Amino acid sequence: MADLIFRRIALGSDHAGYELKESIKHLLLRHKISILDCGTNGPSSVDYPDYVVKVVERLHRGDADGGILVCGTGIGVSIVANKFPGIRAALCLDEYMVRMARLHNNANVLALGSRLRKEWDIELLDRIVRTWLTTGFEGGRHERRLRKILNIEKNVLDMMKIGV
Ligand code: RB5
Repeated sequence: MADLIFRRIALGSDHAGYELKESIKHLLLRHKISILDCGTNGPSSVDYPDYVVKVVERLHRGDADGGILVCGTGIGVSIVANKFPGIRAALCLDEYMVRMARLHNNANVLALGSRLRKEWDIELLDRIVRTWLTTGFEGGRHERRLRKILNIEKNVLDMMKIGV
């Protein structure tokens, strides 16, 4: 495999994403990636925001350098993850989106929807995971755009502090 961008991944899902999370875990292990599995740990119904918080906490603490989150559509987990400063979560449906999320957006959380495919082909899943792990940020003009995102985060935090 090409050089790794992420070596330590925090993984999380709700019940709908549980099985896909387990498959991803096996692929990551095969690629010798260190994994922090933040749950959930079975098919019983849970609330996806709780698991997103666990993954983001790990990223903010520096215990992991990237995150992968799974729910039924990937929508819920990406909405929650993107509430947090410094998190750029990308909901991706295929390898192209994963590549672009890394090259242009320097996404640090990959969001997947387990129910977006009738069946997840393990080869496709592996290509998605490998693309995620090995694609670097392109920088250049995209750097400026990411700085603008950081500025927006800062302004929102400042607005909250002074109670605008
Ligand atoms: C759970 O049924 C489902 O709503 C959740 O996994 C996710 O798709 C929400 O966005």
